[in-house]
Amino acid sequence: MQAHIVTLPGDYIGPEIVAQAVKVLEKVAAKYGHSFAFEEYALGGASIDRYGVPLTDETLAKCNAADAVLMGSVGGPKWDGVEPARRPEKGLLALRKGMQVFANLRPCTIHPQLAAACPLRPDIVAQPIDVMILRELTGDIYFGKRWRSEDRKAATDEMAYSEMEVERLARIGFEMAMKRRKKLCSVDKANVLECSRLWRETVARLAKEYPEVEVTYMYVDNAAMQLILRPAQFDVMITGNLFGDILSDESAAIAGSLGMMPSASLGSGTRGLYEPIHGSAPDIAGRDIANPLGTILSGALLLRHSLGLEAEAAAIERAVSQVLDEGYRTGDIFSEGCTRVGCTQMGDLVAERI
Ligand code: IPM
Ligand code: MG
Repeated sequence: MQAHIVTLPGDYIGPEIVAQAVKVLEKVAAKYGHSFAFEEYALGGASIDRYGVPLTDETLAKCNAADAVLMGSVGGPKWDGVEPARRPEKGLLALRKGMQVFANLRPCTIHPQLAAACPLRPDIVAQPIDVMILRELTGDIYFGKRWRSEDRKAATDEMAYSEMEVERLARIGFEMAMKRRKKLCSVDKANVLECSRLWRETVARLAKEYPEVEVTYMYVDNAAMQLILRPAQFDVMITGNLFGDILSDESAAIAGSLGMMPSASLGSGTRGLYEPIHGSAPDIAGRDIANPLGTILSGALLLRHSLGLEAEAAAIERAVSQVLDEGYRTGDIFSEGCTRVGCTQMGDLVAERI
């Protein structure tokens, strides 16, 4: 098949990790007889430096014309002084909104080889952990009205959701649960927030269409606690943008390292935005020591969800697992007795095993 993939390396470690994922995808293309055309554009700080804005209209248009978009990471101290409306993160948010990718899939599974990197008690991790956090991505307090008083001493960020936004996200959650273990946990703060009450009512209404799915409702504070106490109880978790941001970092810590975690953001079609869930790690940028596996695994999700190439996606996941089996580790997941490798070498090792 022929596919057109836009890459947005972004800032600090972004270009290092995206290069590894591209290398692995190119190996997949060669091995399975596909042709992937990659086109690179600037996003975040890189775009501010070049064009004065974190996302140009042209870049967004290119993303919307592609089959899929692979992103690295944006932001960092270099642009901390930039006015809020032009921060690198604004570019990422505008990209998500502009591509209308409202459903963010953040899978949390523990690679058995990395069990030692998991901070939880061994008896908790011994149970199978396979949680799919489905985070709403284009609404909530991220996109609500903001206000700052003239004397700068008071501020407001508005949380807003519409029934339509909740419903389209929840539907994906129910469909996903049907293909998995048929359990769905809806996370909100309905004891306090009106948005959450709307969220809960909408999910409850939709649940009637999916009688086979066992639905539970959890307040976000309890969910944060349950995720570390008994992570094995969860199958699909659906939640809003802000809660999902927080819970997915927590789930990444459970999995051993933020560097391992891929994500996929989808809209109503197959076009998607794929990015590791970690940030731009300015402290280790340019030293070729970042963990590229989260981005490489995001490449696998890209093949699966946007291009429908399941066997190829599985080949990447197998190659990553094999490299871990063989004891290769970047610094963030290193433990005694393993072989420490850099970012480029990790990319090479995975590509060789495709
Ligand atoms: C994430 C990040 C982003 C978010 C930031 C960089 C805007 O934390 O993808 O989880 O909050 O969504
Ligand atoms: Mg986050």
